[in-house]
Amino acid sequence: MTERNMKLALEEAKRVVGMIEADELTAEQKKAIHDDSIANFNENVNPGWLEYRKSVSTDAAFVEWEDDNEVFKDLNGTEFIDCLGGFGIFACGHGNPEIKKTVMAQLDRYALHSQELVDPLRGYLAKLLAMITPGDLQYSFFTNGGAEAIEMALKLARLATGGRWYISTVGAFHGKSMGAISMGGKAAYREDYIPMIQQVQHVEYGNAAATEAAVKNLVAVGEKVAGIIVEPIQGEGGVIIPPDGYLKDLRAIADKYGCCLIFDEIQTGMGRTGTMWRADYEGVTPDIMTYGKATSGGLVPITGIIARPWTYEKSGVGTGTECKMFDNPWILGSPTFGGNPMACAAFISTIRYMLENDIPGMSKAKGEYYMKGLKKLQEKYPTVLTTFRGSGMLICMEFPEAEVGYEVTKGLFSRKVMTAGTLVNAKTVRIEPPITQSYETIDKVLEALDGAIADAKKAFNL
Ligand SMILES: Cc1ncc(COP(=O)(O)O)c(C=O)c1O
Repeated sequence: MTERNMKLALEEAKRVVGMIEADELTAEQKKAIHDDSIANFNENVNPGWLEYRKSVSTDAAFVEWEDDNEVFKDLNGTEFIDCLGGFGIFACGHGNPEIKKTVMAQLDRYALHSQELVDPLRGYLAKLLAMITPGDLQYSFFTNGGAEAIEMALKLARLATGGRWYISTVGAFHGKSMGAISMGGKAAYREDYIPMIQQVQHVEYGNAAATEAAVKNLVAVGEKVAGIIVEPIQGEGGVIIPPDGYLKDLRAIADKYGCCLIFDEIQTGMGRTGTMWRADYEGVTPDIMTYGKATSGGLVPITGIIARPWTYEKSGVGTGTECKMFDNPWILGSPTFGGNPMACAAFISTIRYMLENDIPGMSKAKGEYYMKGLKKLQEKYPTVLTTFRGSGMLICMEFPEAEVGYEVTKGLFSRKVMTAGTLVNAKTVRIEPPITQSYETIDKVLEALDGAIADAKKAFNL
């Protein structure tokens, strides 16, 4: 780094810190942030992101600056109703004041842990998770992102069983790290990285018989399966709800063949689908469960896994070593920021808020309200809104083709409602708002949808 560059970087950092710390921005600062954002994304992030966002917002350079309960605000304070909820992050709303209070108290005390002493919040959080998750799920390991949690689940399944193979599902989404993407069920996300983890078989989602056949065939040729990994409802895949009994059947298959049943509840967990975990809906206990997104309280990222005792107790048996997880507690990983005090404080406070306010029950009731509204819209515009489905506040609408979906999301955005399709397709558009969204706001969203669908009908002559 040259001396001149260091000087320039210091000036730039000071200018940005000044804007972050400003109580109010001047008109020049607002314009600067808007223009800088376009230039910075084009030159230093990836111009593709601006192009991609154009498909959602009519203004490629819509810049978010504040959030508050149900809304995002731009630099001028214009409010957009958040119907995407960060794909599940904002279950308890944006900037929830009760959760923020806990986080701020912890920030003032100490934000990150020593890495060597015993950090109490990690223990409290692990205990609480054992209390609110199904069955005898007991041991937690905390990570920072969803994909990282998946990596831990995959590794633990190998340690616990000595198996090497995984069964995953077509259409699945488990994140984009190398292990997680190996489990992924969408070609567009995978094909550039092949070969990845080779020992994966993808079977049809919702088809327990196909799952059993895959495990059985592997066993027949001398292979050993470590785990069956599924989302209890596929989120990114387009809110695909499997037939009742599917999760129970997978439990029976895992028991029969001695492999781990892994539920990825990163999107479905924490009240999103109308129960605290989707696993609760069928009364099934997985061997390993991942969680994330809403666990952050919308404030500080935290993800992780929780596992049944046998997975820890038997770890290493496959390699002839006694109990690797207890003997070598770092064997799964030791992420520097995993389970840090700020994140644990946010998660603990989120659990309190969810239990105190019955967020799962709220999600169920409001989800049903949404479905009634969508049914009316579907009857009114059957050629545009071809179908819709959901559980709790995890809902999706289907349109005849992606272009129609984009048109509807654009129409919603121009009516100050934000939502989006999946990352690569807007044929299905998700509604995944803060569960705290008011009924009054839901009515506003349904009204905006009515207008946006009517416009799309006209535009595509449907
Ligand atoms: C079910 C599921 N698993 C894993 C992930 C990956 O999480 P992250 O994006 O935090 O890595 C996601 C993200 O959308 C998800 O929906």
